Amino acid sequence: MEKTIDENKQGQSLVLEQKEGNNRKLFIESYGCAMNFSDSEIVASIMTEQGFNTTQKLEEADLVLVNTCSIRDKAEQTVRKRLEKYNAVKRDHNPKMKVGVLGCMAERLKTKFLEEEKIVDLVVGPDAYKDLPNLLAEVDEGRDAINVILSKEETYGDIAPVRLNTNGVTAFVSITRGCDNMCTFCVVPFTRGRERSRDPQSILEEINDLWNKGYKEITLLGQNVDSYLWYGGGLKKDFEKASDIQKATSVNFAKLLELCAKTQPKMRIRFSTSNPQDFTLDVIETMAKYHNICNHIHLPVQSGNNRVLKEMNRLHTREEYMTLIDNIREIIPNCAISQDMIVGFPTETDDEFKDTVSLMEYVKYDFGYMFTYSERPGTLAERKMEDDIPEPVKKQRLAEIVELQQEHSGYRTQQNLNTVVEVLIEKTSKKSDAHWSGRTPQNLVTVFPKENYKIGDLVNVKVNDCTTATLIGEAVGYSENN
Ligand code: SAH
Ligand code: F3S
Repeated sequence: MEKTIDENKQGQSLVLEQKEGNNRKLFIESYGCAMNFSDSEIVASIMTEQGFNTTQKLEEADLVLVNTCSIRDKAEQTVRKRLEKYNAVKRDHNPKMKVGVLGCMAERLKTKFLEEEKIVDLVVGPDAYKDLPNLLAEVDEGRDAINVILSKEETYGDIAPVRLNTNGVTAFVSITRGCDNMCTFCVVPFTRGRERSRDPQSILEEINDLWNKGYKEITLLGQNVDSYLWYGGGLKKDFEKASDIQKATSVNFAKLLELCAKTQPKMRIRFSTSNPQDFTLDVIETMAKYHNICNHIHLPVQSGNNRVLKEMNRLHTREEYMTLIDNIREIIPNCAISQDMIVGFPTETDDEFKDTVSLMEYVKYDFGYMFTYSERPGTLAERKMEDDIPEPVKKQRLAEIVELQQEHSGYRTQQNLNTVVEVLIEKTSKKSDAHWSGRTPQNLVTVFPKENYKIGDLVNVKVNDCTTATLIGEAVGYSENN
């Protein structure tokens, strides 16, 4: 199961509100993490002001923008294939079409993109989207254009995203950009730059605006949300130099969560992703205190072995992680916990891999995303370590933990049988027009007959049946939180 959180949505071309008077056509699609999908909404907002409306048809696009992912080699290969497709469409149907590459691959490959891929006219890194109008002017005059400058300040806090492909119920709100953690396998610190936090005021304004537009659930997004820290702007590493007033009025992640929960007491709040080394008890306590903060923590661990964790520069031990899990379970007994795991990291032995298996047995995660190690150019692991675990061994290890995770997911899902769960209705079930599909606070998909309920309702559902990943039931009334 080589799958990232949003791979089910990968590559969807996104629909944007049509603005009257706009006469150029934009085809925009996104690959990779939730942050990329969220960034595309910012880009769409900028492009709307430049006279573009979106189209779903490549054949009629004046401009194609593809928001790219570098996290694993496979993600990059997918984008390369898309470029071939654009090439064919341009050659056969649409010679005027221009192509721009956004996101992590743009940042990683820079001018190489213009050299290697003749189809590409425009290369824009994740911190340079506000420069799109200028870059586009260059392209319009027939020149290639590139801006891959990373910023220490840019958070796009002042841009109101255009919600793309929305169900009208759930939305992403980004709170930090970049990452300072430098896990040795990870390309993100190189492609997304230094970690910076967004002004809490602009986050709260965005949440209020979403509520007024009918949204019922938001996910606070960051590479590492737990290290959110606002003290009036500036990098986290410079916090020590801040004034006493700045320190006294600073907002950390627990405080931000609380502000969000209080600002819209009926808005469901989720967050992703947490890093165990930065996760603090006050976050769990805040979650326990506010009903509208969903009881689910995505807590990637990558490995259950201390030596491998150290080689990965994950700054916690197996034992510290287990204590964190114990604390979560004690303070929020019904909290779902999910994982990311990497198998086949350089030098990982069979015995060390078994520690990952035994950690999974200990936690019994509700769900997870598991990957074979993919060497990324420029990372510390690539520079210092040989990618020495044979592919078949990696695959075998992956298969083992994927199977184990399925068992655990099944176990966790079954715990809900014959209970009543609270479900936020998001859409019609894929399998049946007569059923709604929504999620519990624990992030479990639940389907049930529609009756008179509607999208956006918060409903109590009696669970009668389940598969490993889906609850099946019937509504027994509105939730008191509706
Ligand atoms: N903090 C981030 C993590 C980004 S990457 C977040 O917001 O999700 C998502 C996951 O991809 C990581 O947790 C890790 O399990 C996996 N990953 C990252 N680099 C990888 C690599 N080089 N090979 C395989 N998997 C990788
Ligand atoms: Fe990557 Fe580690 Fe940051 S996985 S995004 S460097 S927390």
